[in-house]
Amino acid sequence: MIALQPEQPEDWWEVEALYDLCFAPGREALSSYRLRDGVDPVPGLCLVARDSDGTVAGAIRYWPVHVGATDALLLGPVAVHPTHQGEGLGAFLIEKSLEAAHASGWDRVMLVGDAPYYNRFGFTRLDGVEMPPPTNPDRVLGRDLTPGAWAGIAGAVTRWSTPG
Ligand SMILES: CC(C)(COP(=O)(O)OP(=O)(O)OC[C@H]1O[C@@H](n2cnc3c(N)ncnc32)[C@H](O)[C@@H]1OP(=O)(O)O)[C@@H](O)C(=O)NCCC(=O)NCCS
Repeated sequence: MIALQPEQPEDWWEVEALYDLCFAPGREALSSYRLRDGVDPVPGLCLVARDSDGTVAGAIRYWPVHVGATDALLLGPVAVHPTHQGEGLGAFLIEKSLEAAHASGWDRVMLVGDAPYYNRFGFTRLDGVEMPPPTNPDRVLGRDLTPGAWAGIAGAVTRWSTPG
């Protein structure tokens, strides 16, 4: 039995521990982390899955970014504890959070990841959307949350800033 809840501030370090377990050491050196530095994740879209004894079984986070002059969500990191991989939990986290993203008014989402995994959720390569180097362009993927939302969108992906 898995319970899915929006991430709360007190969940932060448990989720970090899961990511440390699931990703190679040095994950924070990846260019996608430079887009997260000093920016809060999007509340309500970051989800934590706990199993029946309360252990974190999976988690997903989102950050806002700019792509050229427009806004997008950056999906990730997403990870599932090795003892729960292959049970559909990754898909559940991705689908539920994308539903929440659409419901809260976001139009488009992007990520850096393996196309063979993310194609099943409708993510395809984003031509002309440039992550900070070094990033393999084949791993820069996007999905519309509203029809046509990525049409004509190109440019550098930059850290979120609010006017003023
Ligand atoms: C990627 C990850 C989140 C998937 O979670 P999960 O709960 O195991 O995934 P699901 O049960 O929803 O789906 C399992 C399927 O995805 C496939 N899959 C998992 N990772 C994959 C990858 N990197 N590339 C291609 N397929 C992949 C599995 O082979 C399996 O295929 P099947 O349905 O044909 O058997 C999880 O394996 C994980 O935490 N990996 C380490 C961290 C990571 O790489 N995160 C993603 C990058 S941000």
